[in-house]
Amino acid sequence: MMSESRRGFIGKAFGAVAGVGVVASLVAMKKTWDPLPSAMSAGFTEVDTSEFEANKLEVVVWRGKPIFVLKLDVPPTDKRSVKIGDDYFSVMIGLCTHLGCIPAYRADKHDFKCACHGGEFTAAGVNVFGPPPRPLDIPPFKVEGQKLILGEEGEEYRQLVAAIGAESLKA
Ligand code: FES
Repeated sequence: MMSESRRGFIGKAFGAVAGVGVVASLVAMKKTWDPLPSAMSAGFTEVDTSEFEANKLEVVVWRGKPIFVLKLDVPPTDKRSVKIGDDYFSVMIGLCTHLGCIPAYRADKHDFKCACHGGEFTAAGVNVFGPPPRPLDIPPFKVEGQKLILGEEGEEYRQLVAAIGAESLKA
């Protein structure tokens, strides 16, 4: 589970997105999210999913980027989902593939909406409307029991690559 300070950090990031609305500033914000080259080789982020609620988006930080971890409340109809324990999750980098805003999850619609230019993604991160050119990227991960380890390529990640193709995974 994430710490309170991380929750505060993410909350501020969302607040910044909601209050800005200017493309130039949003592009600048994306730059602040991009990790420094030296940070790319840093360690892993471990996420305990055992207490996660279905259809409630959790956001963790990995290498300076927001990572969406969404426990699905309906069986997945696509190949992008990750099985952790008995449940299925969407695991994605939470940056819009258009210009890098952070999309908001709409639990009632089971989708993500990007406020910047109206882009929409399914709960699995597939772009279905607006300017985003491709699905949300999927970070390398490994599954250990109920835990998700971000930053390490495990068997489940390799199976995803084989199922949907590496192009759909990369930032
Ligand atoms: Fe343009 Fe998301 S940044 S639609």
